[in-house]
Amino acid sequence: MNVAIIPAAGSGTRLGGKLPKQFLPLAGIPIIFHTLLRFEICQDIDAIAIALPVSEIVEMGDAISERAFHKPFHLVPGGRERSDSILNALEAIAGLSPEIVVVHDAVRPFISTSDISAVINRAKEIGAAILAIPTVDTIKEVEDGLIARTLDRRKIYRAQTPQAFRYDLLLKANQAAREDNVPSELMTDDSLLVERLGAPIAIVNGSPDNIKITTPEDFKLAEKMISTF
Ligand code: CTP
Ligand code: MG
Repeated sequence: MNVAIIPAAGSGTRLGGKLPKQFLPLAGIPIIFHTLLRFEICQDIDAIAIALPVSEIVEMGDAISERAFHKPFHLVPGGRERSDSILNALEAIAGLSPEIVVVHDAVRPFISTSDISAVINRAKEIGAAILAIPTVDTIKEVEDGLIARTLDRRKIYRAQTPQAFRYDLLLKANQAAREDNVPSELMTDDSLLVERLGAPIAIVNGSPDNIKITTPEDFKLAEKMISTF
């Protein structure tokens, strides 16, 4: 069984506003439902766990029933940082004995089902795979306002989600990071925890359309994109 984990318990401070961004409407539908729909229709996903602010769990349960999704949903309380939300979800789905878990930000609604399947298939082969896009800009490492060095652009990729892992591997990586006292706020994606274990992680080429809605500018861009998606 393959389980999607959708972290949706953030407060959206960089976007601002009262309502956390994952609940803002795009074309009349909350962003999180655009995202959930992609996982509902992806044939490689068997169940979906969503980490939510505690205050939203009951309402979200009702909204999911109203929208007649067919896959089993597990609603989990989120944690202080994103990585805490992921760990809560991993622990909550232990009883399902998942083979692969696929983590995907609630605020990346433009993911394609074929890209979800592609990372799952690579993770089945080697244990872990993430969607990423090659960098087009030349990247400079800067110290105190001065260029320290230029990185080899051919080796630089921008990590996105989904990120897929064998369940046991991601759970172990999360537990190890906590035992080693890695600060939660530094755990900005899931693959870096698996990197710490020295396990191989494959790159699957993603699409620039798979934006993460982070700032007000991203939200404006998403409003334009949704009309042609
Ligand atoms: N997230 C989460 N639990 C947290 C923090 C974040 O589940 N404690 C989720 C967000 O809801 C989002 C995803 O992780 O779907 C990516 O995080 P980010 O874009 O940083 O969202 P926020 O943390 O909400 O935004 P900000 O950092 O601007 O406050
Ligand atoms: Mg955040």
